[in-house]
Amino acid sequence: MPLRDKTVALAVTGSIAAYKAVEVARLLLGAGARVLPLLTSSATRFVGPVVFSGITGEPAHVDMWDPSFAGELHVSLSARADAMLVVPATCDVLARLAQGRADDLVTATALCARGPVLAAPAMHPRMWAHPATQRNVEELARQGRVSLVGPVFGPVASGEEGVGRMADPADIVAELARLLAPSDLAGVRLVVTAGPTHEPIDPVRFVGNRSSGKMGFAIAAAARARGADVTLVAGPTALATPSGVTRVDVETALEMQAAVDAAMGADLAGADALVMAAAVADFRPASRAQGKIKKGGGVPEVPLVANPDIIAGVGARRGGAPAPALVAFALETGSDEEIVAYARGKLAAKKVDLVIANAAGDSLGRDDNRVVLVTADAQTAVPRADKRRVADAILDALARRLRR
Ligand SMILES: Cc1cc2nc3c(=O)[nH]c(=O)nc-3n(C[C@H](O)[C@H](O)[C@H](O)COP(=O)(O)O)c2cc1C
Repeated sequence: MPLRDKTVALAVTGSIAAYKAVEVARLLLGAGARVLPLLTSSATRFVGPVVFSGITGEPAHVDMWDPSFAGELHVSLSARADAMLVVPATCDVLARLAQGRADDLVTATALCARGPVLAAPAMHPRMWAHPATQRNVEELARQGRVSLVGPVFGPVASGEEGVGRMADPADIVAELARLLAPSDLAGVRLVVTAGPTHEPIDPVRFVGNRSSGKMGFAIAAAARARGADVTLVAGPTALATPSGVTRVDVETALEMQAAVDAAMGADLAGADALVMAAAVADFRPASRAQGKIKKGGGVPEVPLVANPDIIAGVGARRGGAPAPALVAFALETGSDEEIVAYARGKLAAKKVDLVIANAAGDSLGRDDNRVVLVTADAQTAVPRADKRRVADAILDALARRLRR
């Protein structure tokens, strides 16, 4: 019951979804939390402060300059609050939070926050997709002080559909509960691989795949939030490094193998777990041309050779020992049954503890995913959700395995 007796500052900003913040307040109260409501002046155009003061029993503050309050309101609110929610979070408040502005009560309180700050963006899909918004989102991820839940795909106020709809109130409260939960991976040394590998043909061309790295980066970020000591071995990707994570950039499968070996040590004693989320190229060109292959020379033949299977190598070296825990991914095309059957085969062939089965079309390049967790004695479906939530489901299974 991580929310019981916790105090949550609930900041409401000016989106049509502001009325859903009332439901969030109700859920927080139902979970045993105290709620301190605050609203931007735009938010009051959508929903009145009286609703929030009425259901929370606390004054709903709008004005940082309220003369009836003796002291500094933003300092007082942030000192009382164990966590802060921004629900809904407008495009504009994301920009202000990314910049570190403090010219209203919501942003000043967020800058002063002692505990986690969780924002639930809600906006038109084109506003969310805009490069300026995405840059602000990346900046917030880089700073690591404000985390986001959603937005999700679905209908928005205009009647259109897309990613921009606010996450469900229950999911927002669940995510806050997770952020306030004790760190179940504290001290666990975790190596995560992510992204594609690029296998050079010549100085300008490579053999690669469509992996974005988002799943592995989400696992690294979630594991760090749960207290793990994370080394992220990343293939070529432009994703921002999650806060607190040690990142090692590689290009090829051989470089990734070397980086994993270096992180885990020859005797594998350097890590408690390896999560191999990278889409390592199975084949590489047998040789790399020194200069750019010229178009005029005819169609070149590019003989391929097999790359090492990194996790199978670690699995073989571990043998029958219980540690480190090993998690592999099976990214396949085909029906769900075929993909799960393939994952089960991989579990035995690679001598790993858990295989995450997912379909290429469900995962590659997407912000969400749908997976099946396959272990020797069970298979558990994780329904479609954003990759951060899927990452947490994977880490729940890993934490169970580590406790055994
Ligand atoms: C009818 C209406 C609906 C709006 N809905 C949204 C929205 O869903 N998301 C958003 O980011 N901005 C929305 N806006 C724009 C914000 O209200 C505006 O950017 C405002 O300055 C945000 O202020 P705040 O972040 O201080 O609350 C809407 C504006 C209007 C007039």
